[in-house]
Amino acid sequence: MNNNNLPGLAKLPLSEFETHRKNFFTKMADNSVAFFSAASEVTRSNDTEFAFCQNKNFYYLTGFNEPDALLVLIKREAQEQAILFSLPKDKSHEIWHGRRVGQEKACQTYGFDQCFTLAEKNDLVSQYLNGTGQVYFAFNEAQLSHQIFTYLAQVRASVRQGVKAPTQLNDASPIIDDLRLIKSSYEIELMRQVNYISCLAHQRAMQKTSAGLFEYQIENEILHEFTRHGARYAAYATIVAGGDNANILHYTDNSESLNDNDLLLIDAGGELSGYAADITRTFPINGKFSTPQKALYQLVLDAKTQVISAIRPGITFAKLNEIANECLTKGLFDLAILSGDLAELVKNKACKKYFIHGLGHWLGLDVHDVGDYHNNDKKEQLRDFIPGMVLTIEPGLYMPLDDMDIEEQWRGIGIRIEDNIVVTSNGCENLTASCPETITDIETLMAK
Ligand code: GLY
Ligand code: MN
Ligand code: MN
Repeated sequence: MNNNNLPGLAKLPLSEFETHRKNFFTKMADNSVAFFSAASEVTRSNDTEFAFCQNKNFYYLTGFNEPDALLVLIKREAQEQAILFSLPKDKSHEIWHGRRVGQEKACQTYGFDQCFTLAEKNDLVSQYLNGTGQVYFAFNEAQLSHQIFTYLAQVRASVRQGVKAPTQLNDASPIIDDLRLIKSSYEIELMRQVNYISCLAHQRAMQKTSAGLFEYQIENEILHEFTRHGARYAAYATIVAGGDNANILHYTDNSESLNDNDLLLIDAGGELSGYAADITRTFPINGKFSTPQKALYQLVLDAKTQVISAIRPGITFAKLNEIANECLTKGLFDLAILSGDLAELVKNKACKKYFIHGLGHWLGLDVHDVGDYHNNDKKEQLRDFIPGMVLTIEPGLYMPLDDMDIEEQWRGIGIRIEDNIVVTSNGCENLTASCPETITDIETLMAK
């Protein structure tokens, strides 16, 4: 990698994408075909587009980063074939809009068995469907579903010529979601790297912050640090929320100026080769926590530390929620923000009045990554963690400025601390460990 001291990976080897396809093939019935569609460009205005973001299932199975392509997986008589349809080489188009891989190079570089242009798709897909028993595609992808039904109608229209149309449609999502949920050692190394880069960005933000700057100026410091280390894009819209803005959970305006005595909440993660980091830090704009800020911050930090130290195979989000609830509810009781019978408060999860979102979520190619949170057969039970799962832990406390039920000293404070955790065979690894989080470490860094 460039400009940092990370060992060079920053990209999955081709063999990883082949393994992902192999794993999907093993889940397919014999005599079946699966379809995965690339994303299309999205118009921002008139003839300008947003930065292209590949469909993550398609990327997981191919590593191929062009729009409008289609991956077809065919399993027949124990033979497996991966076929790509993609945009053709086109000199004049490429002069205006950028290079295309083309079919020859796609086969050589990405390990597909056959590659064709999009123009060849209609005829060939109809041939693939003829005589096939089952079809797989993601039912939640409207455009792809529409395309598949069109193909199926075409095939059915030819039954009098002896063509046999598939009769069973299967949702590919639960299968691929389950595969994506468990990360390989390569994927974990990429996520380690994107966390390391994102931690550098959070440190830069702490060092560059001072009253009078605008939130978007700190956002820019973060993006600058991401790109300096090879993470070209943020994994999601960066949140830079000064003071009471932190009480808006998905605040992305980032348009206001920073006030001397407020906290600043930053929720920002880079994306590296498609894989996301999702990290939050909260720190004082003037570099010194006030007494009430310190009390609430330490409480959130204690909750995060207790939860993470319990993570190991076999634990569930339900158990982690119990730990977070017990810690936060007791702490709020000790600060006299909650009052009453402590046992009743814990039983009623009283902290949820101020901890208003979930404790965490899966993380991977998507920031809120795919994967069932429940045991597949019993939806009422949260599933046991197993090695290779990656998740966030992100307790928070939110005390809006206009909440007249709380003492004035707490109002306008919003705190979240968010780390990214891999479940390992005997516990867990905190990928976010290099990001300052203790009051002393933050104040020391900001004093430099
Ligand atoms: N950045 C979104 C989240 O923390 O879930
Ligand atoms: Mn998160
Ligand atoms: Mn986040």
